[in-house]
Amino acid sequence: MSDTLPEGVERREVDGRERLCTRGEPVYGEPTDGEWRAWDAGRSKLGAMLALGMDTGLAGGETALYLGAANGTTVSHVADFAGPTYAVEFSPRPVRDLLDACASRPNLFPLLKDARRPETYAHVVEADCDVLVQGVATRGQADVAVRNRRFLAEDGRLLLAVKARSEDVAAAPDAVFDEVLAELREAYEVLETRSLDRYHEDHLGVVATPK
Ligand SMILES: C[S@@+](CC[C@H](N)C(=O)[O-])C[C@H]1O[C@@H](n2cnc3c(N)ncnc32)[C@H](O)[C@@H]1O
Repeated sequence: MSDTLPEGVERREVDGRERLCTRGEPVYGEPTDGEWRAWDAGRSKLGAMLALGMDTGLAGGETALYLGAANGTTVSHVADFAGPTYAVEFSPRPVRDLLDACASRPNLFPLLKDARRPETYAHVVEADCDVLVQGVATRGQADVAVRNRRFLAEDGRLLLAVKARSEDVAAAPDAVFDEVLAELREAYEVLETRSLDRYHEDHLGVVATPK
């Protein structure tokens, strides 16, 4: 279990079980304990990376860029412990729910944008973000991370969950992960990788920093 949780993320007993929690308004019907809300690692790749004890480098209070925000499940937890949090999602439907998560989080900024086109949100997102969290689950996951490297501070962290089946449904996941990591290494130094299988089948958690 991790000793490297950011400030604002705690292990607390909720509904009779120890869970990761952040403090904020509930978003997806998650169990709560007072102002604390459980962060379900089975529904969140970043939650799984933290639950598995990966060294994400997160301390709390970071400026964060989140790619593939969907309806806000994970990015709402990020905004609970981080500073300014930019949430990019290109599908209008989940963005409607994302707006609800933003209502009680003045530091969470929704952007209806395509993460493959960072030039379309470069005027909004701060330069030198401390962390880039990516869960776009689409073909070309390494390419998206490389294109968005421009927003990361030199000592920033990329926290990426690679979904093998989004790249190639038929290929062996390990072969897909090798290919994605090779492409990532053109722009990033990979610090840690970990299978997220315990929570998310055929996903690899990656922590990297810009080269
Ligand atoms: C698996 S879901 C993400 C779940 C989310 N990360 C969470 O844990 O709450 C993947 C999301 O990425 C979005 N997505 C895929 N390609 C994208 C792109 N190029 N730009 C922005 N969003 C994208 C999809 O619309 C979808 O909502």
